[in-house]
Amino acid sequence: MRIAVTRRIPDAGLALLAEAAEVVVWPKSLPPNREELIGLTAGADGLLTLLTERVDGELLDAVPTVRAVSNMAVGYDNIDVEAATTRGVVVCITPDVLTETTADFTFALLLAVARRVKPAADAVLRGEWKTWEPLGFLGQDVYGSTLGIIGMGRIGQAVARRARGFAMTILYTDQAPRPEIENEVGARFVGIDQLLRESDVVSLHVPLTRETRKMIGAEQLRMMKRSAILINTARGGVIDTEALADALESGTIWAAGLDVTDPEPLPADHRLLRLPNVLVTPHIASASEVTRTRMARLAAENLLAALRGERPPRSINWEAVRGHAQS
Ligand code: DGY
Repeated sequence: MRIAVTRRIPDAGLALLAEAAEVVVWPKSLPPNREELIGLTAGADGLLTLLTERVDGELLDAVPTVRAVSNMAVGYDNIDVEAATTRGVVVCITPDVLTETTADFTFALLLAVARRVKPAADAVLRGEWKTWEPLGFLGQDVYGSTLGIIGMGRIGQAVARRARGFAMTILYTDQAPRPEIENEVGARFVGIDQLLRESDVVSLHVPLTRETRKMIGAEQLRMMKRSAILINTARGGVIDTEALADALESGTIWAAGLDVTDPEPLPADHRLLRLPNVLVTPHIASASEVTRTRMARLAAENLLAALRGERPPRSINWEAVRGHAQS
């Protein structure tokens, strides 16, 4: 068996793959471009991808030996699942193992933005800390505030559980109410407009799909409080980037914490990066040593199972691929 891996991943994942297959790993730190990816994957049975690789019909047609693609991520907006399914290619992802780590980071961003940690620490580095200032770096209280969660999936729920410790009022919106979890996490279902109007903090936890692309634009930002904070640890494309930059520049909302952006990465001279009320981090919400190791291991287990013809632990089209093969 031959497996292509599009970047160096934690050793635990690579070791699992190497026990069962010949493994080729893209050696550079930047992702392979299309041509390089085709070259790397030529003749491979399986492909282990990251969210930086676009997997579509064109790619799969260029590497017809590939029978399974395992994405080391819970999000799979980089993969055309329909194109994979119709070509009999199994697609796998790595949910659950990163939920708590991502929720931790959502709170890290939220607290850092609300309490202006970065501008304050930067001022210290510049030698500007001269005394205790009664009016210096005033932020927003998180404790007791209202949190609006857009997308109450696994990560949204984990964020809500943390918010209870901060005595936050929790509103959420989703495709439908989820009464089974409302009691557990202490959240109330509302429509998106009400959530935007009433929340002090809005946190995004939806996948990027045709329906969610740019779901937060100028109109939605105008509905938010002028003191509101927007946090995004989901996908950059869920927000209209230029509308957000306008809103932050004009004071339509108070601040934003973004672990994901559109485009990603943002060009170094993008105006968002110069605003004092924005904190941008490089898509690191799942980046703990333990979690990235778990993601690598699960991605490897998924891929090996699919290539052996067994049901992978976490596939999104296993049934569909089998159904397609039988029809
Ligand atoms: C994912 O898994 O989709 C994250 O964005 C990276 O961990």
